[in-house]
Amino acid sequence: MDVALDLYGKAKRFGTWDPSDIDLGRERFDWDALTPEHRQALLGTCASFYRGEESVADTLAPWLMAAPRLEERMFLSTQLFEEVKHTEFFARYFRTVLPEVDPGAYFAPNLQGVLVDDIAEVSSRIRRAVDQDSDSRMAALVEGVTHYHGIIEGMLAMSGYERIDETWPSAESFRGLREGFARIREDEGRHIAFGMDFLQRSCAGSPRWRETVERTFDRYVPDLIAESPDLPPAAQRYRQLLAACYRRRRRDIGLEGGEPR
Ligand SMILES: [Fe+2]
Ligand SMILES: [Fe+2]
Repeated sequence: MDVALDLYGKAKRFGTWDPSDIDLGRERFDWDALTPEHRQALLGTCASFYRGEESVADTLAPWLMAAPRLEERMFLSTQLFEEVKHTEFFARYFRTVLPEVDPGAYFAPNLQGVLVDDIAEVSSRIRRAVDQDSDSRMAALVEGVTHYHGIIEGMLAMSGYERIDETWPSAESFRGLREGFARIREDEGRHIAFGMDFLQRSCAGSPRWRETVERTFDRYVPDLIAESPDLPPAAQRYRQLLAACYRRRRRDIGLEGGEPR
C-alpha cells in the first residue's frame, strides 16, 4: 500500500474534528488556579505552538505544488487544511479564554529562526523551484521536508506534547486545552509519517539526498539538543525529549544513529 495514499485515507476518516466544537467553558478556572511560574511556563508553550502552527499553515503550500507524485499532493492537501485548523484552535483558545494576553509576548525567541524565518525562506525556495527542473525541485523539497516534517513537527512539536503531558496540574484540569492538543497530536502523527516515508524513499537510493537530509539536521539539531548544567531542569528535560525524537526520526528515515526498534 502506498503510504501517502493510506495516510490520505486516514486523514479523510479521522481528520474531521472541528476546533470550534471543543468546550472551553471551564478553562479560565484552571488558569486562575495555577501558580505564577506554572502559568508563565504554560503560556510560553501555548504561545509557541500558536506561532508555530500559524507559521507552518502559512508556508506549506509550495510543498504541495512541488511534490512529484499525485498521492503525495493528495496527502499534503489534507495537511494544509489541518495546519489551518490547528491555528484556528489556538487563535480561538487565546481569544476566548485569555483575551487580555498577547501571545506574541510569550513566544520563545530562540525558536524564531527555525520555526518562522528559516521555514519561510525554504518555502520561498521551493516555490521558485516549482518552475524549474525536477532535480532542483527535489533538492529544495528534500531539505524542506527534513526541516518541516523532521525538525519542526518530528522534533519540536512531538517533544512539546510529551513535555506538556508531564506538567498538567491534575487529571481533571484543562480539559479543553488537552483535547485540542490530543487532536492536533493525532493529525501531526500523520504529517510526520508522511514526511519520514518521503525521506526514507528519497534517501534509499541516493547518497545525495541523504547528504541533504544530514546537512539540514546538522544546521539545527546540535544547538537544539545540547545539554548544559546551567540550564534549568525543565529546559534540560525538553532537550532530552528532543534528542529522543531526533533518534526516532533518524530511524524512520533509515539513517545511522537512529533509535533501535
Ligand atoms: Fe499542526
Ligand atoms: Fe503538522
